Amino acid sequence: MYPLAAAMVVDSEVLRAELEQAFQSLAVRVVVDLPEMPSEWSSFLDRLDRMKPDVVMLSMGRLASPLEEVISAVRSTAARPAVFILHTEADPEAILRALRAGASEYLFPPIGQQLQAALERVARTREAATERTAPGGRVAAFLSAKGGCGATTIACHVALELPRLIDAKVLLADLDLQAGLIGFLLKNKSDYSVADAVYNIQRLDQSYWRGLVSNGIPNVEFITAPSRPASKNLPPGHVKQVFSFARTQYDWTVLDLGRHVTALTLTMLEMSDEAYLVTTHEIPALHQTKQLVQLLLDSGYPRDRLRLVLNRIPKRSDVTLDELESMLGITIFATLANDYQSLQEAFTEGRMLDTSSHLGRDLQRLAAKIAGVDINKKKKFSLFG
Ligand SMILES: Nc1ncnc2c1ncn2[C@@H]1O[C@H](COP(=O)(O)OP(=O)(O)OP(=O)(O)O)[C@@H](O)[C@H]1O
Ligand SMILES: [Mg+2]
Repeated sequence: MYPLAAAMVVDSEVLRAELEQAFQSLAVRVVVDLPEMPSEWSSFLDRLDRMKPDVVMLSMGRLASPLEEVISAVRSTAARPAVFILHTEADPEAILRALRAGASEYLFPPIGQQLQAALERVARTREAATERTAPGGRVAAFLSAKGGCGATTIACHVALELPRLIDAKVLLADLDLQAGLIGFLLKNKSDYSVADAVYNIQRLDQSYWRGLVSNGIPNVEFITAPSRPASKNLPPGHVKQVFSFARTQYDWTVLDLGRHVTALTLTMLEMSDEAYLVTTHEIPALHQTKQLVQLLLDSGYPRDRLRLVLNRIPKRSDVTLDELESMLGITIFATLANDYQSLQEAFTEGRMLDTSSHLGRDLQRLAAKIAGVDINKKKKFSLFG
């Protein structure tokens, strides 16, 4: 197994004894070990920044802050560790709470075997990440489970919101080669697209790239999908090469991969840190989602990098989120309100949604969750000021 560094914050004697025993036969180095919950979370988080554990084990017993906040803060530290929640029993409510809050595992005694399997999953992800050795910022890919679920709308809003939440330079890239819309939504007049970067790959450097991207929105640059039919089948390997370079120029790259799972989609997912699968409550979309989740997991896409976004949730529904999660076999990362009218008004006026609408606030919350930012601590922000 790829060697892992772990941090433990475990205040239960029973769980500590179980962990210590399990660690004896595993390639795990404990770099932080607290026998009780920290009284000062900020200094604990600083320690995580310095020690860079691959995984943080937290016992759920007496967490003072809301679990979601703690996990999000831990996940935002330098090494972006996986979080395992430990509990003395398998309480279904606690399991769901932990997974919803962003934990990748929920473990309870006897811990040994479960822990080994869970650590192997983390080890594989870490190893793959090291293999990717991609210098540059994070890559977030958006994919529509079925046409029209909202992937483009969400990718645009997230890309524009990120620099308002964190100090980040963002690239928004339209890789929906069949029906790219980002140029239109952002009122782009540039003649250049991803295809130009691919066709001129030997010239690709910082100054050439600058000539291709469009800007006009502070800290966001974007590149559109090709409009000419001849450019709709770009070789995936070349597109990957372009974005391996492009990501070095930005803190975040947001990709719109459209709705079709093609060789290009799979190649780009491989280089993405997280894939956001956008779906809706509609039966055909859910059916497609289930198949897509299975396909991606079967093809080796790590579960902890696959995130489901449920868009256009109805005010009332016969199916609960819990039921949907167990039906789809994946937890729901975020839900977004259904608000066609506000979106149309915004698009007609050539802008994105602001936080005066419910959907605008949901989109902002989603961007914050993606960035690992505690939205309540940020006092002033709205899309477009
Ligand atoms: N939360 C929402 N509430 C209401 N309407 C929405 C919402 N999200 C998206 N829409 C609308 O749904 C339509 C499809 O959205 P969008 O183009 O973003 O989807 P997509 O998944 O990118 O589609 P495609 O498969 O064509 O790429 C648009 O008219 C958009 O305005
Ligand atoms: Mg789209």
